[in-house]
Amino acid sequence: MGRMSRAVEMKLLQSFCFFLLLSVVAPLREVPPSSCSAQIEAIINLQLQHNSSGFRLPLHHPQSPCSPAPLSSDLPFSDILHHDSSRVNSLLHRVATSAASVPLFKGTALGIGNYVARINIGTPPKPYTVVTDTGSSLSWIQCLPCKFYCLPCKLYCHGQLDPIFNPAASSTYHTIPCSDAHCSTLLSATLNPSGCDRSHTCIYNATYGDRSFSIGYLSQDTLSLSRSIASIPNFIFGCGQDNKGLYGESTGIIGLNKNSISFFSQLSPKFGSSFSYCLSSTSATGYLSFGGYNPGKFVFTPMSKSSANEGFYYLKLSSIAVAGQSIAVSKESPSIIDSGTVITRLPEEVYSAVSAAVVRAIGGKVARAPAYSILDTCFKGSAAEVPTPEVAFVFGGGAVVRLPGSNVMIDVDSGVSCLAFAAEKLETIIGNWQQKTFDIVYDVGKRRIGFAAGGCG
Ligand SMILES: *[C@@H]1O[C@H](CO)[C@@H](O)[C@H](O)[C@H]1NC(C)=O
Ligand SMILES: *[C@@H]1O[C@H](CO)[C@@H](O)[C@H](O)[C@H]1NC(C)=O
Repeated sequence: MGRMSRAVEMKLLQSFCFFLLLSVVAPLREVPPSSCSAQIEAIINLQLQHNSSGFRLPLHHPQSPCSPAPLSSDLPFSDILHHDSSRVNSLLHRVATSAASVPLFKGTALGIGNYVARINIGTPPKPYTVVTDTGSSLSWIQCLPCKFYCLPCKLYCHGQLDPIFNPAASSTYHTIPCSDAHCSTLLSATLNPSGCDRSHTCIYNATYGDRSFSIGYLSQDTLSLSRSIASIPNFIFGCGQDNKGLYGESTGIIGLNKNSISFFSQLSPKFGSSFSYCLSSTSATGYLSFGGYNPGKFVFTPMSKSSANEGFYYLKLSSIAVAGQSIAVSKESPSIIDSGTVITRLPEEVYSAVSAAVVRAIGGKVARAPAYSILDTCFKGSAAEVPTPEVAFVFGGGAVVRLPGSNVMIDVDSGVSCLAFAAEKLETIIGNWQQKTFDIVYDVGKRRIGFAAGGCG
């Protein structure tokens, strides 16, 4: 990466000025409904649940009105599906490691399906709103002075809820030199080589499949999960000087995949090699939890290995039962379970069989509606009105996960809902619409993934 040419600097400056203009004309954030004020206060005051062995962060649906950094509520659903497709494309690109087709932007698309949490960084600790992503490795936050290569530029950071992290105001902040071993892990974490500036500081380049990116200094500072407990000194993250593409006024991202530099891997020496979450509906609050779990309430399936991408979480979906009829998922290669993909993708033949079985079970009780974006099994009537048959996932080892009707159908327009599954050539990706309200534990130490119904609203 190294130094940038003058021409590139000018180009960055121009695109930045355009971005700044967009930010100025963008409307101000809506005031959250008053029913959210208690939830938001709890988050701002970091009243998280914790004890000496673990902690639990509130986790928000990206469009929850109670999220500290909600997406605009008038965002068309078709835009969300469009972003979901770019996320799926980039996930599959990362899995297909055949050197012949190296994608230009080598990361998972951030999309807009990622849930949001708050963490604290620095001494004294300051809170930041971040998206959480099982498809990403490196964590980063926007960082002052938000300028990197060119002195006349003023800001390369977008609008965010919290004041931008100021390294100069933290007594425990330091950058990581290029000679440090962590700098060399960036290649596997971001799939881009690290860079080195004139003062031998390590530079990361995190690019995402939807052309979002963050470039800045690889850094260390204290991560704290509340003001009083659970601080992780020397937490490694990116101090982003040039950032584009985060949605909803978040500050950055925490990577939950298995790469050695991820948030999960850095926390596991202290809290153990598992984490769990519950992804809520828009009206409730879920959680992200570290530090042990109660295995009794979960059904488990083995975590599959995949040579394709060590970072992602894989399992095996054996079959899908629709109203008691079993449809085999014969594909040999394992399925990805992903927190940031919204709609579950199934191999084409499996999808067609599931769609036909759902239509048969509904049996003409509601009229069909035209396809909507990637969703082609649609009905006249809201998701609550359509008499949805029982749909269950059967995972490797026999774990059965029965989906509530609200995880099967999705409202796409007023009075129209669709089956929330889509066809994707030969691949299976378990998306977050289907994971909603389940407690899901990723036990990397015991190589298993567990599901329990009724974890959050
Ligand atoms: C960052 O990586 C992307 C994708 O590999 C590449 O196109 C871009 O030039 C890199 N940026 C810098 C500043 O090196
Ligand atoms: C500590 O927290 C963990 C995770 O929230 C929980 O499983 C455990 O039961 C708690 N232990 C005590 C002693 O409260």
